[in-house]
Amino acid sequence: MTKINAAITAVSHHVPDYVLSNKELEKLVDTTDEWITTRTGIKERRILKGEDQGVTEIAKVAVEKLLQKRGIGPEEIDLVIFCTVTPDKIFPASANIVSRKVGMNKAFGYDLNAACSGFIYGLVTGSKFIETGSYKKVLVIGADKMSSIVDYSDQSTCIIFGDGAGAVLLEPTTEGMGLQDSILRSDGSGEAFLHQKAGGSERPASEGTLARKEHYVHQEGKTVFKFAVSKMAEVSYEILERNALTADDVAWLVPHQANLRIIDATSNRMGLNKDKVMINIDRYGNTTNGTIPICLSEWENKLHKGDNIILSAFGGGFTWGAVYLKWAYDPS
Ligand code: UT7
Repeated sequence: MTKINAAITAVSHHVPDYVLSNKELEKLVDTTDEWITTRTGIKERRILKGEDQGVTEIAKVAVEKLLQKRGIGPEEIDLVIFCTVTPDKIFPASANIVSRKVGMNKAFGYDLNAACSGFIYGLVTGSKFIETGSYKKVLVIGADKMSSIVDYSDQSTCIIFGDGAGAVLLEPTTEGMGLQDSILRSDGSGEAFLHQKAGGSERPASEGTLARKEHYVHQEGKTVFKFAVSKMAEVSYEILERNALTADDVAWLVPHQANLRIIDATSNRMGLNKDKVMINIDRYGNTTNGTIPICLSEWENKLHKGDNIILSAFGGGFTWGAVYLKWAYDPS
């Protein structure tokens, strides 16, 4: 029997209009454009402004663009996997909310939380529904409104994060394109170094949690940085090795955009030239689940059928992993 692979057949993204520059952050916290640029590579990030605007507002636009590009209606989508750490609400799932907003009324859906590695976890999970022949059109959304959980008086976290959404459509192919291999890992001992203390069932919201600012991202940056550098580089190299790929065989690395120094360490370990690495951290910062699909969408016109592409990520949990895929279509 011919093997069914899951291929990305459309990709899109959306970021909010408001640009929060390093210069503006200089007015909020004790920092400088020079420090942020040299330590992270970030120059600006996008922020969703306005009352009652959740992550699905950004994702909705990305999904609508994707459906238009692919020339299909919302009712053709079978499954929506919404990868996020900042859902509109604890429940119902943002997958259900965005499905209602866009009219994907035949789809079932759920949210997936693997912090910054969420999108590649979602991609791998979604691909299984295609590979088994169960479903034909699986939408994987990576989106976060990080500004909703960032403390804009904390100099070490507010400079990093931004808001944004990307989405990809997975469909079956028997041409050998699409997802070829993946490695997903996690280590629960990472919880101590990157988490949000309150708002869940362990510590529900109270006056005390608000007063202690426990609804914001808590990050011990140096420790996270050390793990991220070693794990993201290691897993990206491992996926090359076990698929007998050399750096020359790789068309693009699509790394999670958390810190330019982590991206550089990963591409160096793989022996890749900088010109094969998708980097937009300077414009968007770390959009958590949004980074990888936003890159794919921005670089779509440079991707060709058969290109070997490596996606790799590291995030809270800790979670990390890499995906090897063959791009399935030429630029339009
Ligand atoms: O995507 C999910 C996974 N997350 C990551 O991968 C993030 C990984 N971590 C990082 O990218 C880096 O740790 C940060 C960019 C968050 C921080 O950089 P760092 O070089 O690790 O700084 P640090 O927090 O260890 O602080 C070093 C110094 C401190 O000053 P002293 O104590 O040495 O005098 C901080 O107060 O830098 C100071 N500092 C700042 N100075 C100016 C921290 N943040 C800032 C700032 N502006 N924004």
